[in-house]
Amino acid sequence: MHSLRPFDAKRDTAAISRAITLAFAGTPDGVLGYFDLVGRENLRVLDEGPAAPTACLARIPMGHWFGGRVVPTIGIAAVAVAPEARGSGRAKSLMEEAVREAARDGTPLLSLFASTQALYRKVGFEQAGSKFETSMPLRQLHTGTRALSIEPVTALMHGNPNERLVRCYQRYASAFEGCLERGPFIWKRIQQNRDQTFHGFAVVPDGPGGDVEGYVFIGQVRRDGGRHDVVLSDLAFTTERAALRLLGLLSDYTTMGLTLSFIGGPCHPLVALLPQQWIEMQFKDYWMVRIADLGAAVNARGFASSIELDIVLDVSDDLVPANAGRWRLRVSGGLGSVARTDSPAVFHSDIRALAAIYTGFLSPKQAVLLGHARGDERAARALGGAFAGTAPWMVDHF
Ligand SMILES: CC(C)(COP(=O)(O)OP(=O)(O)OC[C@H]1O[C@@H](n2cnc3c(N)ncnc32)[C@H](O)[C@@H]1OP(=O)(O)O)[C@@H](O)C(=O)NCCC(=O)NCCS
Repeated sequence: MHSLRPFDAKRDTAAISRAITLAFAGTPDGVLGYFDLVGRENLRVLDEGPAAPTACLARIPMGHWFGGRVVPTIGIAAVAVAPEARGSGRAKSLMEEAVREAARDGTPLLSLFASTQALYRKVGFEQAGSKFETSMPLRQLHTGTRALSIEPVTALMHGNPNERLVRCYQRYASAFEGCLERGPFIWKRIQQNRDQTFHGFAVVPDGPGGDVEGYVFIGQVRRDGGRHDVVLSDLAFTTERAALRLLGLLSDYTTMGLTLSFIGGPCHPLVALLPQQWIEMQFKDYWMVRIADLGAAVNARGFASSIELDIVLDVSDDLVPANAGRWRLRVSGGLGSVARTDSPAVFHSDIRALAAIYTGFLSPKQAVLLGHARGDERAARALGGAFAGTAPWMVDHF
């Protein structure tokens, strides 16, 4: 129906900031701040010829950690259609074009948080990971220590992500499935998210300026009466002793602080260190992934080095024909690849189900159960072994 074009600040600012303001109950000033944060070069609008545009999205370059490697990803955000233009296929056109653009560029994945899954499923996204909020009384933290030194830190240094923290985060994120490889957009939000400021503290066993073995960003939400709740925007550690030091730091908020809450997966690593299960978990979101370039996606992620797999898949993808057809998937030595083949396929999947299988959110057998894929039990188990991992999750929102 329409094609996507880059955002033209002079021509599009008024119409697009209005569409986003009305879509997300924002303010015009807030939206201009968002443009600065996300970068105007990352905005796309639906080309409606000489008429003012009514639909837009943002493409945020990032990555997801899968199998210990970073898979380059375009995060999709700010999908907005002006109220008077809704219901005529604009959002679907926007998303189709965004998927085609990523596929043309050889970007392995797209990911997003969906307000309506129906829209994104139509263009090949599927649920691929989760996000939960864990809360607990602060006074429950008895396991912490004060053994290692702590240094106040900022997420950004001279406008760029703080490399000392990035190194620590990457080691932490590489141990889980789905965590984001963050760009400056996300790092900025860790420190300042809308009106909320988060203060950073790093565990530095060798003293200030030394290697960061763990860190946390702490926000405080004041209650009537003066006490407050502690909210974390981020936390990472590379050793158990650093995690215990972070717990100690947090437990030092107990005199005034009431509750502690943070975002993670169904079992946050911090929770795994606690002796008790006095926690409450609230489901926040299932995030969705679209495989834009199947070959690039398989090449980019890591696999367990013990897995040897050679299997023929039949993939359907109406939107990106380059992904469709029969592929020989091979996994060996921790790496994967696909090659075209005429051999008969043992497992059939649409690109949607494959996204959920790829991230380990659904096993192939579960995808068959849901009617999203077909294949014999043996093939499903073999494929499932390659993509198996712990539940995919991420802290960040975009
Ligand atoms: C969601 C939104 C972008 C849809 O825009 P749109 O141009 O009206 O959507 P389309 O006409 O392209 O609809 C495509 C599909 O999206 C889904 N969809 C659209 N509006 C929907 C709604 N209000 N509720 C549930 N699903 C909806 C439907 O599956 C629809 O397909 P169908 O018409 O065949 O049923 C628009 O309503 C909007 O800007 N909403 C506020 C902001 C928002 O939710 N953004 C998405 C953030 S992830």
